[in-house]
Parts: sequence; structure tokens; C-alpha cells
Amino acid sequence: MKKLLSLLLTLAVLLSLAACGSGSDEGSLTIEEGKLIMSTNAEFPPYEMKADGEGVFNGFEGIDVEIALALADKLDLELVIDDMGFDSALLAVQEGRSDMVLAGLTYREDRDEVMDFSTSYATGVQVVIVKEGSAVNMDNLGEKMIGCQLGTTGYIYASDSVENGGYGEEHVLGYENGALAVQALLNGQIDAVIIDNGPAQAYVETNAGLSILEGDWVTEEYCLAVDQGNTLLLEKLNSALEELIADGSIQSIIDKYIKD
Ligand code: ARG
Repeated sequence: MKKLLSLLLTLAVLLSLAACGSGSDEGSLTIEEGKLIMSTNAEFPPYEMKADGEGVFNGFEGIDVEIALALADKLDLELVIDDMGFDSALLAVQEGRSDMVLAGLTYREDRDEVMDFSTSYATGVQVVIVKEGSAVNMDNLGEKMIGCQLGTTGYIYASDSVENGGYGEEHVLGYENGALAVQALLNGQIDAVIIDNGPAQAYVETNAGLSILEGDWVTEEYCLAVDQGNTLLLEKLNSALEELIADGSIQSIIDKYIKD
């Protein structure tokens, strides 16, 4: 009986080793040899956005874009940026169409079930944008219409039930990106926008007549994510990221875009 058990255990170990081996393409660390494909949603200033001209890379710029360039450099890979909707950027990495998603992505347990997250490289917090001088405040927000970018943590929190600290789905409208939500606010179609503080500051700076109510939501950790089980790539990205954090490169990239 004992023998049978140990035989079965050995078999199980061998099978799982075989499964690992076939998971990644022999020899190539990434989907396309020599390339690091990043899926993102370049509608999230100052983390990733389309530049007026060439930008820092192929018409894109932002904190995540510069971090991605530094990571690719450390791993000796050529960066490819694939810009798409936010939800799609998360799916792309899970479906093997990108090597990593880097998109001001907040760590969440439910996301961690379908992707593997790196060390955190920045933090964010959700805030509320209103029209300057409007009567909307943290206490009456629950009676108003709130706009958020679809699929984001802002949307997830705001549309949650009142018992869970949200405002209920009937009070939330989802937009393809933050800029469209802000446009709807300016047009008077909604009363507030809930979004990460980084883009909130950027939108308030570029559009007159907006202001930010301080939210009291928890600090979120921004991380990149790879497909679940892509341990080798995650380890390499993590050690590159940790080097860039330790030598101050990440902080100077952040300081270039966020001045306070
Ligand atoms: N931090 C928020 C989240 O993870 C919003 C990120 C949106 N990013 C973007 N590139 N549009 O849900």
C-alpha cells in the first residue's frame, strides 16, 4: 500500500513537471522571441497616454511607458506596446496575446486569481471629481449620478451595494475611458467622476471648472501582471523592477510626470 502511494506521488510529481515544461515555449521567455509585448489602455494620464508627436515611444508617453522601456532594456528585449480597452488589456495577458499588462493596474485579490502580480511600483487612491462650486459632496454623492471608466476599481467600488460602501449600480454610468466620463461631467450629464488621483489631477489641470473632493478610500498598489503561472517572466520582471526601484529610476520617472 505504501509502495503504491509513493509510486502515485512520484507519478503526480512527474506529471506536474511535464505540465510546467509544456506551459512556456521551449527557449523563449516571451510570446515573441526577443520582444516584450505590453498590453495597456493609453487613456490614463500620466501613466499611459497618446503623445502629441512621437512621445517617448511610438507615439506613447507616461510613467508606465517609461517603466516598460526600462524593464525591456534590463531584460534585453524589444518593447511592443499594444493599446486597447482597459478590460481587453487585462484579458490579453490572460489569453497569451501579451506578455504583461502595465496600465496603472491596481492589485486586487480577484484579479490575482487570474493573473500573477509583480512588486508594487506606485500607489494610487480613488478621488471624486465634481464641477467647481457644485453642491455635490461626499455626503450626498449617493443621490447623484457618478461616471467611471468601465472595468476599473473606481467603477467596481462605486457600483457596489450601499451595504458594501458603494452607491449601487443605478447610480453609476460606465465609460470607455476617463476622458469621456469627464466630458460627460462637463456637459452636465453626470454629477461626479470617480477615478484614480493621477488622471484626476491631469483632467482638472487640462479642463477649466473642475475640482477634486478628497475621497477617503484606501491606497491602492499599482503593479504589472503576467499570465497566471508565467513564473519565469515574472521573476525576471520583478528583479528588474526591484533594481529600478532601488536605484531611484522609478521615482525619477514618477517625478518627471507628477510634480507636487
Ligand atoms: N487603477 C485602476 C484599476 O486598476 C484604473 C486603471 C486604469 N488604467 C488604464 N490604463 N486605463 O482598475
